Amino acid sequence: MATDLRVSLTDRCNLRCTYCMPEEGLQWLGKSDLLSDEEIVRLIRIAVTQLGITEVRFTGGEPLLRPGLVGIVEQCAALEPRPRMSLTTNGIGLKRTAQALKAAGLDRVNVSLDTLRPEVFKTLTRRDRHKDVIEGMAAAREAGLTPVKVNAVLMPGLNDDEAPDLLAWAVANEYELRFIEQMPLDAQHGWKRDGMITAGDILESLRTRFTLTEEGAAERGSAPAERWVVDGGPATVGVIASVTRPFCGACDRTRLTADGQVRTCLFATEESDLRAALRSGAPDEEIARLWKVAMWGKKAGSGLDDPSFLQPDRPMSAIGG
Ligand code: GTP
Ligand code: 5AD
Ligand code: SF4
Repeated sequence: MATDLRVSLTDRCNLRCTYCMPEEGLQWLGKSDLLSDEEIVRLIRIAVTQLGITEVRFTGGEPLLRPGLVGIVEQCAALEPRPRMSLTTNGIGLKRTAQALKAAGLDRVNVSLDTLRPEVFKTLTRRDRHKDVIEGMAAAREAGLTPVKVNAVLMPGLNDDEAPDLLAWAVANEYELRFIEQMPLDAQHGWKRDGMITAGDILESLRTRFTLTEEGAAERGSAPAERWVVDGGPATVGVIASVTRPFCGACDRTRLTADGQVRTCLFATEESDLRAALRSGAPDEEIARLWKVAMWGKKAGSGLDDPSFLQPDRPMSAIGG
């Protein structure tokens, strides 16, 4: 059974990362499609009390765009047993919200940042917000939302020469950097395996400047990131190699989309509709039962390596990363 729940709070975003969505954005969910704050807290309560979930991660789209976020965190912090709570964000709104999120009970944040160069950031995300992200990360660190982890996706010809610079910068700022292999989850369906920067490429590039020592399997547990100790430590760097070194076997995650569908995998082709059950007045026990049935149906792997692999209909921003 899963112990880790990822909850998408909105499918909207204030960036337009090229590996995620097109310039014009997507067909966003309507207000009545979205779960309300009360519905979200109720589902998290059921997950914590009846499914054995101990870790809750809020994602998006961009979760800081959800007006009720601080209140949702506050109510989840009051649950018994209290889940550990983290947030995956593009960082833009953190300067404004980090203190309040910490006070509400959020434990830590992961921030996406692919480049140290403002011009490249503008090309990659189609928005001129590099400074806001850097300041947001510092605000999270100062607020104690630590360890602040940084997620970077490398794109050929854009930022694939930046791995060592990003690592030197992360080490100097006490951020835990992880590189993510680009996955076939973009709304435009433009992903190509042979156009992707692999974990192997990234490690080779890092080793031109750093000595990396691999951490053992015990330290990794079920985490998506494999980690290496940098220059004898204490800093580490991670690689999330979903494509070339899949980690499905250890996956302990269940996902809830912003419109109340359970997905057992990023690449699942099926969803289970908890929103319909909620809105038809189902009691907690019935919702827990439906959720468990969905989790029992979890496939053994993402199928990314299967020649018949089909990209899911919903893009990353709608699934919740
Ligand atoms: P922590 O290490 O606990 O902070 O969490 P995390 O790495 O799971 O969180 P984050 O939201 O920062 O995710 C980082 C990357 O891992 C994202 O690109 C996710 O899509 C990817 N990821 C998370 N869970 C899965 C999964 O079940 N399968 C695959 N293939 N990728 C995942
Ligand atoms: N492949 C890999 N990572 C992606 N992200 C968004 N789209 C993709 C993709 N197609 C990353 C974001 C963020 C994390 C949640 O997922 O950069 O850091
Ligand atoms: Fe927004 Fe994240 Fe998608 Fe970038 S990757 S457009 S920050 S949802």
